[in-house]
Amino acid sequence: MKLPAQLALSLALSLPGVSAHYFFPHFIANNNFTGFYEYVREDTQGYMPYKGNYDSTDLRCNVGSQGFARDTGVYKVKAGDEIGFGTDFNALIQHPGPLLVYLSRAPDGSDVRDYDGSGDWFKIHEVGPKSFRSEGIQWGVTDLGNFTFPLPRETPVGQYLVRIEHIALHGAGEYAGAELYFNCAQIEVENDTKPSPVVKIPGVYTGYEPGILFYMYRPYLINYTMPGPRVYGSTTSEASHAYLASERNSHRLNNL
Ligand SMILES: *[C@@H]1O[C@H](CO)[C@@H](O)[C@H](O)[C@H]1NC(C)=O
Ligand SMILES: *[C@@H]1O[C@H](CO)[C@@H](O)[C@H](O)[C@H]1NC(C)=O
Ligand SMILES: *[C@@H]1O[C@H](CO)[C@@H](O)[C@H](O)[C@H]1NC(C)=O
Ligand SMILES: *[C@@H]1O[C@H](CO)[C@@H](O)[C@H](O)[C@H]1NC(C)=O
Repeated sequence: MKLPAQLALSLALSLPGVSAHYFFPHFIANNNFTGFYEYVREDTQGYMPYKGNYDSTDLRCNVGSQGFARDTGVYKVKAGDEIGFGTDFNALIQHPGPLLVYLSRAPDGSDVRDYDGSGDWFKIHEVGPKSFRSEGIQWGVTDLGNFTFPLPRETPVGQYLVRIEHIALHGAGEYAGAELYFNCAQIEVENDTKPSPVVKIPGVYTGYEPGILFYMYRPYLINYTMPGPRVYGSTTSEASHAYLASERNSHRLNNL
């Protein structure tokens, strides 16, 4: 089955707009798409894939990145914020393979710009296969260039490296054939001492909210909106706010 895979690959690479190589120079925080290498450490690898060398410390934030660390910003975020990365020049990921995101905390009291990533790393996000079909695995990140995910609510305050990685598997049939594309952003997780959103009571309800002025009998509604503000600290505001029982256009259900 080697020939069809290679054929598919060469066809994919000949399509216009297809990016064979990519990197992640843009850090994203709460929809703020930051500048080219503004908060992401540059490196000397550029858009070239990293292969093999699984024992090298270069596997942390890529070749030569420590030399750029001092000139790279440290973005302040709060645990629970939506963070992420964008590719160079809107490149879309076309190579097959998973996406993974790791975090490593700089030692207490130290500056993340001096941190070499020698401490512990923990994974906070991953995107794997979307489906398995007769023509092969369909990957969740294919044709995308921006990736966002919540910084876990439990993340302790401190300064961190955030490492995004895509592992391209088209050549992974032999050892050191997998291509790794990865970069590290520098962030500071601040103490969220100011809860939000906040309300006054009275003032929290008018009585006309869809979840309070609500006819609950037949025909049954198949959606419900929770009264009051978004849950403080919730990482998924809208999704956890509305309970949708179905994707039907009709919001009344007669035959329950
Ligand atoms: C967005 O990021 C830029 C840096 O690229 C920063 O100057 C600006 O304050 C940020 N905006 C918000 C709303 O945080
Ligand atoms: C990523 O988001 C930025 C900011 O919205 C946008 O300019 C860019 O085109 C997006 N990139 C891709 C590959 O969708
Ligand atoms: C955050 O700040 C509050 C108030 O100053 C403090 O009680 C709490 O311990 C801090 N939490 C962390 C994780 O530093
Ligand atoms: C159900 O959805 C409809 C249409 O979006 C909306 O008008 C209505 O307020 C919703 N009802 C509840 C209880 O959330």
